[in-house]
Amino acid sequence: MNNAYQSQYERVTKCLEIIRSKTDFVPKVAVVLGSGLGDFAEEIDIKATVNYSEIEGFPQSTVPGHKGRFVFGYINDVPVVAMQGRVHFYEGYPISDVVLPVRLMHAMGAEYLFLSNAAGGIGDGFKAGNLMMITDHISTFVPNPLIGPNEEKFGTRFPDMSNVYRKDLQNIIRECAADLKIPLKEGIYIQLSGPSYESPAEIRMCKMLGASAVGMSTVVEAIAANHMGMKVLGVSLITNLAAGISEVPLSHEEVQQAADEAGPRFKALVKAVITKINE
Ligand code: HPA
Repeated sequence: MNNAYQSQYERVTKCLEIIRSKTDFVPKVAVVLGSGLGDFAEEIDIKATVNYSEIEGFPQSTVPGHKGRFVFGYINDVPVVAMQGRVHFYEGYPISDVVLPVRLMHAMGAEYLFLSNAAGGIGDGFKAGNLMMITDHISTFVPNPLIGPNEEKFGTRFPDMSNVYRKDLQNIIRECAADLKIPLKEGIYIQLSGPSYESPAEIRMCKMLGASAVGMSTVVEAIAANHMGMKVLGVSLITNLAAGISEVPLSHEEVQQAADEAGPRFKALVKAVITKINE
């Protein structure tokens, strides 16, 4: 038996105890704020915040531009918890740590998980600044977060992944984008480990596999959430064209700049979708 995995449920329970010593807020929707959505917290009628550093045993984010805290509050009347700053596999954490925050937000009461990220665009006609609704994912190139003894309290050993990004929720995202007149791409997101950006050959591979966007997060979180029965939504902000499609070398600054520019559109869409989920 692998004790590290066995202790996951206990770890989540311990983290939850710390959260509960600070706030009794029960969220309905959990939101993971990727680059470009960091200041989404400004849209929330904030009731409480908890810094990751206050939670013993919780992995700490080390990426520049990523804050590390949970924000609890309301979007219109919907109780939400937002993660300002997530943990990435490339920071050196085991994949079970990368998904611990999602497990914790589920333990807090969240039924929905809204995942967002910055991604490189691969799909035909994609441009920097596009928003892409995630309709499916490819996880093959990163470790599966469910490897290890299965913890039945979280979910079943062999969970189905045929409808992770549920069709009814995809329809809500489409409707909200149309109402807001925000053009919306759709496609498959592939998670690679990073932290180096991909080579042009790797991007050609991703394209052959059917991916429209590439990034370094999200899929493992979606798998863990689906394992626990959470309803998952995902939107990528295309911050750049992927390597080999872009004519210029990729840089974190370019990604950050595009994320800042598209931030208001991204925020408006996420806010509208969360409001509509609750109707
Ligand atoms: N590749 C991987 N991750 C990314 C990219 C990219 O081109 N852009 C933003 N995140």
